[in-house]
Amino acid sequence: MGSNEVNKIAGALLGMATLAMGIGFLSAGLVSQKPIKKAGYELPDSTATAGAAAAPAAAAAPAEPIAKRLAAANVEKGAAAARKCAACHQFTKDGRNGQGPLLWNVVARVKGSAAGFNYSAALKERAGKGEKWDFESLDAFIANPKAYLAGTSMNYAGIARPDERADLILYMRGQAESPAALPQ
Ligand code: HEC
Repeated sequence: MGSNEVNKIAGALLGMATLAMGIGFLSAGLVSQKPIKKAGYELPDSTATAGAAAAPAAAAAPAEPIAKRLAAANVEKGAAAARKCAACHQFTKDGRNGQGPLLWNVVARVKGSAAGFNYSAALKERAGKGEKWDFESLDAFIANPKAYLAGTSMNYAGIARPDERADLILYMRGQAESPAALPQ
């Protein structure tokens, strides 16, 4: 076989590969297009699973230690970030349990110990060990609740941005009878 023919074959293979990729992209585009979903029968919600799959990767972004981020955190921004939790949680002394437990005094509190809240078995187990929430564990839990605590009933994807978590945790620290000492 002359090098000319080899080139032709290589070219043909390359062409086929490009075509196959093109079809792949095209069909991926078609599948995720909304109009298809309105076809009169239920399709699984691909956006939900895509979001769940993307969350751990985002949360895994390398971050400064929480002690360092807290030193630069902003409590007003943290109060704003806490609105993301407000559908399920209250943070104030006069607050109540909702879909999630009351988070007043949560920093340094034994995990799973808000009075009257029915926790998941996973969190009850931590409570049984007497484990307490500290800045590190709150940071990890809020980044990705299900990765930190398999079996948790907290249905929330997490906050991927490390500085936003620090703002929020600084705010949560303030929502307490006597705020825990900041880590050095
Ligand atoms: C969709 C409702 C929902 C949202 C939104 C939500 N949570 Fe939760 N959260 C829960 C539930 C339910 C639990 C109890 C989990 C369990 O028992 O495993 C929980 C537990 C917790 C706990 C443990 C409390 C304890 O007493 O041990 C913390 C801390 C917490 N959430 C923080 C947050 C923060 C911060 C946000 C916002 C960034 C947030 N949650 C958003 C429902 C929610």
